[in-house]
Amino acid sequence: MTRILGIESSCDETAAAVVTDGREVLSSVVASQIDIHRKYGGVVPELASREHLRQIVPVVREALSQANMLLADIDAIGVTQGPGLVGALLVGITYGKTLAAALGKPLVPVNHLAGHVHAVFLEAHKANRAVKLPAVCLIVSGGHTVLYEVKPGVSNAADSDGLLIYRKIGQTRDDAAGEAYDKVAKLLGLGYPGGPILDRLAKAANGVAAPVKFGPTKTRGNPLDFSFSGLKTAVLYHVREHAEYAEEIRTREEALKRGERKYEQLLPLCTPQTLALVREFQHAVVRDLVERTLLAAEQLAIESVLVSGGVAANSQLRRTFEERAKDKGFEVFFPSRALSTDNAAMIAAAAYERFRAGFFADASLNADPSLVLG
Ligand code: KG4
Ligand code: ZN
Repeated sequence: MTRILGIESSCDETAAAVVTDGREVLSSVVASQIDIHRKYGGVVPELASREHLRQIVPVVREALSQANMLLADIDAIGVTQGPGLVGALLVGITYGKTLAAALGKPLVPVNHLAGHVHAVFLEAHKANRAVKLPAVCLIVSGGHTVLYEVKPGVSNAADSDGLLIYRKIGQTRDDAAGEAYDKVAKLLGLGYPGGPILDRLAKAANGVAAPVKFGPTKTRGNPLDFSFSGLKTAVLYHVREHAEYAEEIRTREEALKRGERKYEQLLPLCTPQTLALVREFQHAVVRDLVERTLLAAEQLAIESVLVSGGVAANSQLRRTFEERAKDKGFEVFFPSRALSTDNAAMIAAAAYERFRAGFFADASLNADPSLVLG
């Protein structure tokens, strides 16, 4: 049995987890910094690094304690090398390197995006489901919107990332989908992060007539590339051109200043027109994510569709993928909400693959903010 301590600090979550054989999650601890970044409407890199420094030791300790383990019981340490914020990554890497050196255990550098793919495998294992490969994996979060083809590889082969081979087949050319959610929520006076609240408000719109319709986004060149900044701008222009939104946005901004940011508090401050606008925005995002992913699945004749990252928690995205993929004969896999957003269990699981394939780092390991996968 291989026990791996995973460490993740690429963005605004400080996380540690213990996972055995890349499959059984013994513990997964996540310290979120949302409350710190909320008033800026996005992640502030300097504040993120400082908070990681404060959290890293207690979070690792808690992960070991919940797994009933001591540092000496760990067989290897897996740490996120990138992509992410350089100062944030450095905290996890420096701590991981120090632990590995002090304990004399191997250090396994992990690509954060490979971690998101492994979150799906962890969940599938928990549900006793086997993920058939090749698969298409959509990673969709506040920082990423990217499509991969995931194929079984050969252990120790120079071109394989452990046991899986990743090939990037599409990506966003501008904003990530989660970023679009966050920006639209901000301009509508609905707080930060935007995804969870817009998801619920879209549901509350029911059958109210749409104040505007957003057509499919066209991307020249690769049909598997995404683009969300045009949609966000279309929402902005619509709101600017319709003076009736201004008053309720101001009212909600004042509520947010008083700390009233819950769904139950903001819902009564939204007119049916705003709810319908949110529903149309979400409809456009979901349609685009699902259609391009399924186009890739058909083009590549794959077996399964995997969806991971913070936006994978979106209820309409899940429902639409389930319905559409069933029609086309693909099996769809999502992680649970806890494994969708950034966590260290997925890093430990991805590290296991690389541990077995012998991908170890030494003390020269450095953060790579734009580390590429596939
Ligand atoms: O993976 P994550 O925790 O962090 C990174 O960005 O790496 O994802 C956070 C993003 C935020 O942009 C948030 O608005 C979005 O995921 N999100 C959602 C939902 N829950 C979180 N977007 C749409 N619907 C949701 N239910
Ligand atoms: Zn992530």
